[in-house]
Amino acid sequence: MNSREIHLKRRPNGVPTAADFELATVPVPSPKPGEMLVRNVFMSVDPYMRGRMVERESYVPPFRLGAALEGGAVAQVVESNGGPFPVGTYITHMAGWREYAVIGGTGVMPIDPKAPLSAYLGVLGMPGMTAYAGLLKHGQPKEGETVFVSAAAGAVGSLVCQIARIKGCKVIGTAGSDDKVRYLLDEVGCDHALNYKTAGDLTKAISAKLPGGVDIYFENVGGAHLVAALNVMRPFGRIAVCGMIDQYNATTMPEGPGNIVQVIPKRLNIRGFIVSDHYDMLPAFMTDMSQWIAEGRIKWRETVYEGIESATDAFVGLFQGENLGKAVVRLGPDKL
Ligand SMILES: NC(=O)c1ccc[n+]([C@@H]2O[C@H](COP(=O)([O-])OP(=O)(O)OC[C@H]3O[C@@H](n4cnc5c(N)ncnc54)[C@H](OP(=O)(O)O)[C@@H]3O)[C@@H](O)[C@H]2O)c1
Repeated sequence: MNSREIHLKRRPNGVPTAADFELATVPVPSPKPGEMLVRNVFMSVDPYMRGRMVERESYVPPFRLGAALEGGAVAQVVESNGGPFPVGTYITHMAGWREYAVIGGTGVMPIDPKAPLSAYLGVLGMPGMTAYAGLLKHGQPKEGETVFVSAAAGAVGSLVCQIARIKGCKVIGTAGSDDKVRYLLDEVGCDHALNYKTAGDLTKAISAKLPGGVDIYFENVGGAHLVAALNVMRPFGRIAVCGMIDQYNATTMPEGPGNIVQVIPKRLNIRGFIVSDHYDMLPAFMTDMSQWIAEGRIKWRETVYEGIESATDAFVGLFQGENLGKAVVRLGPDKL
């Protein structure tokens, strides 16, 4: 049997293009003792994968050239050679970017197939956990506070906004289109939303909506967003630095925010984090998020791309704002 998978052909320079990737057809090996053959149903594309395309030391090793990319996926076990889960089990694992994979038990978790399978790559998966841990641990939201979220219509941002609302905060979100702004106001429940591409000076635009300033900034973007956040933060504010997608394709090091000095008089706490630092919060996250979903207090959207051949478009689309909510690629039917 053959499987199709996406290889990294060369390391992207700037925004990745189709020429950086290759769709390869490869034979699927038989599972060795302790292994399983799994059929991927959905795979995730995430902004952090851009960092793994660069040859450098980081918290995860770089992707290898000429080899399949890796990333979160939801799969069904189709053959087991004494592997950890029986045939038919739905799991999440890290051998995405391919139709079939032979895996052991490392990084594999069984899932409840009663929830939509793709949700385990978004609201019930890594982005949901990122929003939950980042906001609650590093934002420390208190009732009545104000929260500013960038990339607010994306996978992580849309959940941060809703969790902040659940915690009794007032929320302002930014996104890159008027449709996304409407989504933030009408579905996500933001108190205010701005299209950062047309809002003009972000500091003025945020201050016009929240004259009293912002207690928490959930940072997904960097650049002009961080400059504006530093300007509008209230004393003793917290900045939870989740990502800086504005820099991921930069070919030269951007200038630092000229107003960083504001951390001193405002006594700001700026804290970067990686979701995997907080796996101790996973049980609480699953309990709270499942309850909020059941109560209708958390809603989510997905942008679904069809077929392995669309995976690179899905990935590159993240940097062009093409996704609303979580971007996923469907690789096969839920059930065979
Ligand atoms: N620290 C961690 O453990 C961790 C875990 C997961 C994610 N993250 C980070 O969290 C952030 C959001 O990730 P996600 O998975 O939820 O992605 P996402 O928000 O679903 O997708 C990325 C979005 O970023 C916006 N964007 C892209 N380039 C931009 C730019 N130059 N300036 C402003 N906005 C831009 C686009 O929306 P617009 O249309 O609004 O521009 C795009 O839809 C990323 O920075 C990611 O690296 C960190």
